[in-house]
Amino acid sequence: MNIDTYKPYISAKTMMGPNSVRILAELLDKYPLRPAKDDTVLDLGCGTGLTSLIIARETGAKVFANDLWVSAEENGKRFAGWGVGERITPVCEDANNLHFERKQFCALVSIDSYHYFAGKEDFFREKILPFMKDEGEVLIGIPGLKDAYSNRAEELLSDWLGDDAYMFKSPKCWKELIGDDERIEMVQTWEMDCFSQAWEEWLATDNEYALGDRKYYETLIKPYTCFVGIYVKINRLSRKNQGIL
Ligand SMILES: C[S@@+](CC[C@H](N)C(=O)[O-])C[C@H]1O[C@@H](n2cnc3c(N)ncnc32)[C@H](O)[C@@H]1O
Repeated sequence: MNIDTYKPYISAKTMMGPNSVRILAELLDKYPLRPAKDDTVLDLGCGTGLTSLIIARETGAKVFANDLWVSAEENGKRFAGWGVGERITPVCEDANNLHFERKQFCALVSIDSYHYFAGKEDFFREKILPFMKDEGEVLIGIPGLKDAYSNRAEELLSDWLGDDAYMFKSPKCWKELIGDDERIEMVQTWEMDCFSQAWEEWLATDNEYALGDRKYYETLIKPYTCFVGIYVKINRLSRKNQGIL
């Protein structure tokens, strides 16, 4: 994917943190999505929908762009302005209580948002898995702790993140949190490569949150944190349906 194509859309107004386009590009390069005609992709915690635009353009899929803090009306206007109003459906629901159809999505993408709502055991199995098609794929990119500092987020990051520090977990922890299920074929978690570039592009903006993050980048963010990549592959058929159980 050529990030330069999307430069006109990336601004202090559409960014809500480290460059989400860069994070998405790395995930799509590693695990390209190839939806069939009429397949749909869920962009969970899409913010201003920058990543939803790219998923629609790069994969040709129809996209459901769900967010909690940004209204469906606001995102709908933006998608229409970008010329993708027909292909992206804006939704405003809490990820803890989504109302999509069972097995609706061939893929789920979630950039810089999954850590806000999914850091509990069974979340993936109960709140996400039911909406995924057989053979579906999940691509997640979120800020977290390097494996070397697993479980030390409150001690290391509270000056920067206050009460939200607990949300930062290592690749190892996220693998355990995604957990097991007969419908899950494979879970991979890793430290992503785009960390410095995605952060630098965010810190260069004059967004007020970026100004706050600048104070902690060298002392806390860079030494202790990373972007955690998470890939989940859903089974072709559950073992029960294959007659194995
Ligand atoms: C830092 S922003 C990132 C937005 C966008 N993905 C990006 O990278 O620019 C985090 C997003 O997570 C969403 N979020 C937080 N809690 C949520 C929840 N319970 N359900 C759905 N979205 C949630 C917020 O609405 C917010 O837009």
